[in-house]
Amino acid sequence: MSKFQATASAPVNIACIKYWGKRDTKLILPTNSSLSVTLDQDHLRSKTTSRADASFEKDRLWLNGKEEEIKPAGRTATCIKELRRLRCEFEGANPNEPKIADLHLHISSFNNFPTAAGLASSASGFAALVSSLAALYKLPATQSELSLIARQGSGSACRSLFGGYVAWNMGSKTDGTDSIAEEIAPRSHWPEMHALICVVSDDKKGTSSTVDVPLLQHRITSIVPERMERITDAIRRRDFNTFADVTMRDSNQFHATLLDTDPPIFYMNDVSRTIIAIITELNRASVAAGGSLKAAYTYDAGRTPTPRLEDPFRLFSQEETPGLGALPLGFNVGVAKKYQIGGVKGFIHTRVGDGPRVLGDEEALLDQHGLPL
Ligand code: DP6
Repeated sequence: MSKFQATASAPVNIACIKYWGKRDTKLILPTNSSLSVTLDQDHLRSKTTSRADASFEKDRLWLNGKEEEIKPAGRTATCIKELRRLRCEFEGANPNEPKIADLHLHISSFNNFPTAAGLASSASGFAALVSSLAALYKLPATQSELSLIARQGSGSACRSLFGGYVAWNMGSKTDGTDSIAEEIAPRSHWPEMHALICVVSDDKKGTSSTVDVPLLQHRITSIVPERMERITDAIRRRDFNTFADVTMRDSNQFHATLLDTDPPIFYMNDVSRTIIAIITELNRASVAAGGSLKAAYTYDAGRTPTPRLEDPFRLFSQEETPGLGALPLGFNVGVAKKYQIGGVKGFIHTRVGDGPRVLGDEEALLDQHGLPL
């Protein structure tokens, strides 16, 4: 009997227009649209194998080799349920297809991130889960349709279903059917975009909070819609100056919004702020010398469910070695406080990448008994 199994990998993405705030926490519907750059899977990715088999007694999931409980109404269970529903429809419309929708699943997923990267894996993880199940079930769904399901695993995961430059349109329907991701431009449109991930620290305390605050409301209604248009247009025209300007402003405002919550949340520390000062000076000196912006910074929340929180942030640049090349004439080294070696704990140099990949059985993560390899 043939084996019902599929393996897929999915990339990490980094938001230039940040998603923060939900209008529906169960369906994971956001209060604003967002936009991200997909990073290269050759450097950072989640890989997942899913298998359906009549001998399996229940659905089981392993993350990095460790079994995790699939909570009945939790995010993973929701994604599996939605994909099973689509498989049922598919089997109904194609009576010759094997009946596998009701078989239990074993799912094994690994991230290739160095632990030191401190990157949240929920976006690439749920995108890989959805991609592997969609391949196993041979679903005739588009990437945008699959993004509806990945979104219910983790909001930002819907953007990891595409490569290149990706928008998540917030939508307005209460059932979430129009809250989908779509590709603005493929990687090939602007392949020169490099990203340098710097791991700043691991000693922060984090609170996940999306309470309604005045600045967030202002951001939702007056700021983000116009920024989405500006950055989309900048990507289409490969206009790095505008792309960088909007990216840095949005990172700043996102962190201002965090500061506006009660109690305030601080995700950046002195090292993060020093790097902002360096990038700002790099760009100022470059423009003063008749050039254009050289790099942009953007910081995420660095929030993971573990107590060990790290603060990755990314610098975008169109240069081979972002931020590490020759300094422009007139660069003022006095802008930055100097730190001991170790202030930045690690770097990953990557670039814009492609979307999820369906891989061959030789890449599978389950052994012959359906247990993680
Ligand atoms: C700051 O997608 O991790 O990275 O939907 O609750 O799983 P949930 O949140 P998540 O939030 C990511 C927020 C962000 C900005 C962004 O990626 O847009």
